[in-house]
Amino acid sequence: MSGSRAGTINLMQSYDVVIIGAGAAGMMCAVETAKRGRSVLILDHAAAPGEKIRISGGGRCNFTNIHASPKNFISRNPHFCISALSRYTQRDFIALVERHGIAYHEKTLGQLFCDGSARQIIDMLVSEMRGRGAELVLSTRVEAIGRTEEGFELALSTGSVSCQSLVVACGGKSIPKMGATGFGYELAERFGLAVVETRPALVPLTFDAKTLERLSPLAGNAVDAEIACGKTRFSEAMLFTHRGVSGPSILQISSYWREGDEIRIAMLPGTDVAELIRAARRGNGRQGVQTVLANHLPKRLAQAIAERTGLDGNLADLSEAQIKAVEAAVNDWRIKPAGSEGYRTAEVTLGGVDTNGLDQKTMQAKLVPGLFFIGEVVDVTGWLGGYNFQWAWSSGWAAGQAC
Ligand code: FDA
Repeated sequence: MSGSRAGTINLMQSYDVVIIGAGAAGMMCAVETAKRGRSVLILDHAAAPGEKIRISGGGRCNFTNIHASPKNFISRNPHFCISALSRYTQRDFIALVERHGIAYHEKTLGQLFCDGSARQIIDMLVSEMRGRGAELVLSTRVEAIGRTEEGFELALSTGSVSCQSLVVACGGKSIPKMGATGFGYELAERFGLAVVETRPALVPLTFDAKTLERLSPLAGNAVDAEIACGKTRFSEAMLFTHRGVSGPSILQISSYWREGDEIRIAMLPGTDVAELIRAARRGNGRQGVQTVLANHLPKRLAQAIAERTGLDGNLADLSEAQIKAVEAAVNDWRIKPAGSEGYRTAEVTLGGVDTNGLDQKTMQAKLVPGLFFIGEVVDVTGWLGGYNFQWAWSSGWAAGQAC
């Protein structure tokens, strides 16, 4: 590679492969494609490659998950991701990270993070691209794309290029402030591919004004909770915010939640709260519900639960039905979120290019030879915990063997 550049494209007007989007999937694809001796141009409208990698995992990039398997992904066709995930696995990516001497650790639940900075992952990919001769061009917009006999022709803000294969790796709509657009979806539709309805996912949920009036004093409090929506449930931290609820368990469930759905929250999952209260009553009947709950939950939350149930008197006065009411308030709190924080804060976009139109082994559009879609733009969305990057690496690798 001649380094990353912003400016006119005048080295080579014609490439074997052009990749739109120098994010996780696009850079992985560029490395693999260039390894096969293909000439590769990877372009991005941003001024730097891998901006989402840079901000990911709180700046430490949760780059994969030891336990990644197809069941951690949501798609209209849950089988589609199997091929790519099994041909380029988390172990393959970990080996690459180790070859580059990047120190990492498991934080929780198999989630691997850099010890240092997410930048190390970007530098690794850029150096792999550089070593293989892929050309990276930044601050470049795609203005038009046409089909030619040999492949595709692209009018760019900086010139024009042609290629045999075109790889669309421009991600989803989340965090528009960082330049995310629906470009990849529009492109797919222009080439006759179907797009599964998109919506923000891994996103905080919001409450209506009336509920917030009651709950906003709890903002900043966190509990280890189990959240269920329909038959899906996740157990991880939950955080009360000024708009509603967030934290890993809420982000996870948000990918399954739809407007109008109720979520069920257990704030002491696995604990028999009724028995806890009875035992406390046997010990000292003159203490209040909130005192007992505060031994297990943040004080303000314990207080709010006692107030909500109207049971802020002595334990000795509680009937069995009232004890059950406290138990339900703690471990079967049912609430209908009003909405989500939307693409402004969503980590990913659910839905995307319909996998029915793509070959699962190569990511190539079945009806448009030479056109490939990889990464988040495809209707494959991972859980929170490094799964989305693994999909980017695996799908980018798969296309890189074929484009
Ligand atoms: P990605 O978004 O990475 O790259 C797309 C690229 O295309 C961008 O560089 C963009 O500028 C470019 N582009 C877009 N439109 C274009 C156009 N019209 N012309 C030219 N270029 C264009 N996942 C995970 O597994 N672990 C984690 O720790 C995190 N953390 C995290 C934090 C935050 C705040 C967010 C928003 C997201 C995460 N994610 C995550 C999700 C993860 O970042 C995401 O799934 C991958 O980056 C998707 O990789 P892609 O390469 O598909 O898109």
